[in-house]
Amino acid sequence: MALSSLIGFSYVVSAALFIIGLKMLGSPATARRGNTLSAIGMLIAVVVTLLDQGIVDFRYIAIAVAIGAVIGAVAARRVAMTSMPEMVALFNGFGGIASLLVGWAAIAPDAGGIVLTTIFLSILIGGVTFTGSLVAYGKLSEIMPGKPLMFKGQAVVNSAVIIAIFVAGYLFVQQPENLSYLYAAIALAVVFGVLVVIPIGGADMPVVISLLNSYSGLAACAAGFAINNNLLIVAGSLVGASGIILTNIMCKAMNRSLSNVLFSGFSKVKSMDMKIEGEVKPITADDAFYVLEAASTVAIIPGYGMAVAQAQHAVKELQELLEENGAEVIYGIHPVAGRMPGHMNVLLAEADVSYDLLLEMDDINPRMETVDVAIVIGANDVVNPAAREMEGSPIYGMPVINVDKARTVFVLKRSMASGFAGIDNPLFFKENTRMVFGDAKETLSHLIREFG
Ligand code: TAP
Repeated sequence: MALSSLIGFSYVVSAALFIIGLKMLGSPATARRGNTLSAIGMLIAVVVTLLDQGIVDFRYIAIAVAIGAVIGAVAARRVAMTSMPEMVALFNGFGGIASLLVGWAAIAPDAGGIVLTTIFLSILIGGVTFTGSLVAYGKLSEIMPGKPLMFKGQAVVNSAVIIAIFVAGYLFVQQPENLSYLYAAIALAVVFGVLVVIPIGGADMPVVISLLNSYSGLAACAAGFAINNNLLIVAGSLVGASGIILTNIMCKAMNRSLSNVLFSGFSKVKSMDMKIEGEVKPITADDAFYVLEAASTVAIIPGYGMAVAQAQHAVKELQELLEENGAEVIYGIHPVAGRMPGHMNVLLAEADVSYDLLLEMDDINPRMETVDVAIVIGANDVVNPAAREMEGSPIYGMPVINVDKARTVFVLKRSMASGFAGIDNPLFFKENTRMVFGDAKETLSHLIREFG
């Protein structure tokens, strides 16, 4: 087989492995294998691409691969599950700078207008992704202040920078031999990356990171066009598309538009006074135990507070005791429970909770009326019935887990404080709700002792 046919065939195999791997990432049961398959696809892609290129000395490539592999392996082993968004932010940033460099290196004296345009795009999107991701990393890891950073005339400055970028890009495509236009475009792109992310609040960073992930794919795609590499175009498109799909899922589940996430720093979301009727009925863990003992179906709905309390192991222990007692236990997982995609799944997997018990919001909601006790563990916004009942509420229309439809609801949290969205929760005042105040882990340990 001619070398070019071998490369073409291998690229098709790699692309297929990427797609199958991505599909397998859709379920926690197959995600690890999916990741391995995609990594094999990438290895094949890298090896066959190098067969074709006599340009770079293999010794340099081997050294770079070794250094990159060691850094990647050590970082992946060391990272705490809760720091995953920071790590992904860095990966996106590196993806962005790689595309910028590939685009830059592809500039050739005989390059035509289309190639030069794709080079400009890979430099623009890559540069924005690079610095935007570094700022996102800084905010999430608290190296930088997490709150939106704003200054007077920000919108004007941003608009001026965008116009300047496109002017520099146009001039670069017209006169590629004059490198000052290229340097200006690079400088403006990296500045713009900082400008777009600083006005976004730290807690919105997971959405921004998912968006930057999509950008890093688009940058790679543009670089693929610039160097005429089909697999880079395919891989970039897959990353670009999956990143934007995840961004969309997160925005929908938060009941916010992407522009609200990106620009709400400029115009604060209006809060409203909601009149909530009913009274709060606290209950002790001792009394809650008697109700749980008699329950035959229990639904556990975890939220951010479970992560704060690190209560996942206690949750698993209570699940086992309830099952020994003859109850059926299921979990309801909201797409944006916690502070990062898959936050609850990761914590529950760490505690060895079986994937089969984890039901997505759309699967648990129709069953909620048959649930004897719904235990809400450190969740607030994702179980807020105001989303269904209170027109005008900032979360009105947001899909939530309808725990209030269960016969009894126990809410485990420390106080009446609001959650991420900063709004009151009528669930706490409902007839069938009992508040079990205290740290979630301590309350669960108390319940476990009662069962023991
Ligand atoms: P939240 O609405 O943020 O509520 C968490 C609750 O946990 C708080 O009300 C807090 O009440 C309680 N809590 C904190 N520490 C606790 C402890 N040690 N023990 C017991 N309870 C504790 O959480 P949620 O329901 O998971 O909703 C997630 C929110 O984050 C949504 O608004 C979502 O839009 C947003 N968000 C999510 C993501 C992703 S991707 N997941 C990304 C960005 C934003 P007390 O202080 O009274 O204990």
